[in-house]
Amino acid sequence: MNATPIQTTPSLFLRAAWGEDTPRAPLWLMRQAGRYLPEYRAIKERASFWEMVRTPELAAEVTLQPLRRFPLDAAILFSDIMTPLPAMGVAVAFNPGPVVAEPLRSPAQIEALRLPEAAEVAPFVAEAIRLVRRELQGRETVLIGFGGAPLTLATYLVQGAGSKDYEVFRAFLRQEPALAHRLLEKLTELTLRYLRMQVEAGAQAIQLFDSWAGLHDPQTYRTFGLPYNRRVLEGLGGLGVPRIYLAVGASHLYPLIAELPCEVVSVDWRMSLDQVRGFFPNHTLQGNLDPAVLLAPPAVIAQETRKVLRAGRGGPHIFNLGHGVIRTTPPEHVAHLVEVVQQFNRWQEES
Ligand code: CP3
Repeated sequence: MNATPIQTTPSLFLRAAWGEDTPRAPLWLMRQAGRYLPEYRAIKERASFWEMVRTPELAAEVTLQPLRRFPLDAAILFSDIMTPLPAMGVAVAFNPGPVVAEPLRSPAQIEALRLPEAAEVAPFVAEAIRLVRRELQGRETVLIGFGGAPLTLATYLVQGAGSKDYEVFRAFLRQEPALAHRLLEKLTELTLRYLRMQVEAGAQAIQLFDSWAGLHDPQTYRTFGLPYNRRVLEGLGGLGVPRIYLAVGASHLYPLIAELPCEVVSVDWRMSLDQVRGFFPNHTLQGNLDPAVLLAPPAVIAQETRKVLRAGRGGPHIFNLGHGVIRTTPPEHVAHLVEVVQQFNRWQEES
């Protein structure tokens, strides 16, 4: 592999996100900042996860770490989907995933949730965004802001912690639908305020993480997921930033997801991009290498990555993993992946 990377300006990421079929696929990786990087672990030894998130200089530093190693086309703000929730009055811990010591299940708890003004939700996030943008000045690298979708935030708030199947939450939706809607209403308003604040602070694209949408059957998603996602995404329309929606294990929901007002759909590895394209003729697709492939030797990584790139040729494509980088991934494997993506010309048949 000694071909020179294909050079393109301006921001390849934004061009692809707005629907342009670019000669090379822009790339970034979910969880590109995180525990697989020794420099992340070094900071984590001195600071708790919340301290990292709430200290703008640390959050900015961790956001930039992967960019110093790899020529990625986008940075994602270092934070968490749970970040805006303490401002509502909910205590959230990380161990390492989110833990809500007092899960929300009663009307009194849900009524007590506060709806803070945008400036009060997470001012440290606005500051971290400004710091990162300053560092990226003059570069093509785009900063992606993000939030959790209302249904996915509710999943943690009601279940209380990560779980394989989130049975408590799935039962709650059926047992207490009115209460569930009340919670989702509040989360929708909070999320919208929080994401608009991120755009005002300088986020150049927004990704809405609906990581647990795939737990539900289409009817349940249509009732408890779709309308709230639509409101958040519609509320971000007209701000000049592309909107990315991610759901995991959700191919049974694609006909519904296709109704959402967003420019980019992020897909997991369970279906190939050429098949997924049929559901989303008017969207940019983002994805979808299985993150486990990065645990395999470089030759396998190259082969599997090119498969994804070929399958993505039928329309605009942003390369990513199907979900986050796994903690045990060797950073050199990520470097190899980035090189393979950068050298792949989407417009030229391979020799
Ligand atoms: O690099 C990036 O992608 C940006 C940072 C980021 C984090 N969380 C940092 C983090 C992002 C975008 C998130 C979003 C997030 N958080 C999601 C949606 C994405 C997805 O994975 O589906 C979800 C479901 C969460 C909830 C969450 N937070 C989980 C399940 C965990 C467990 C550990 C893990 O790494 O998956 C966390 C903690 C967390 N968030 C860590 C990081 C780097 C690990 C904390 C540690 O260092 O111990």
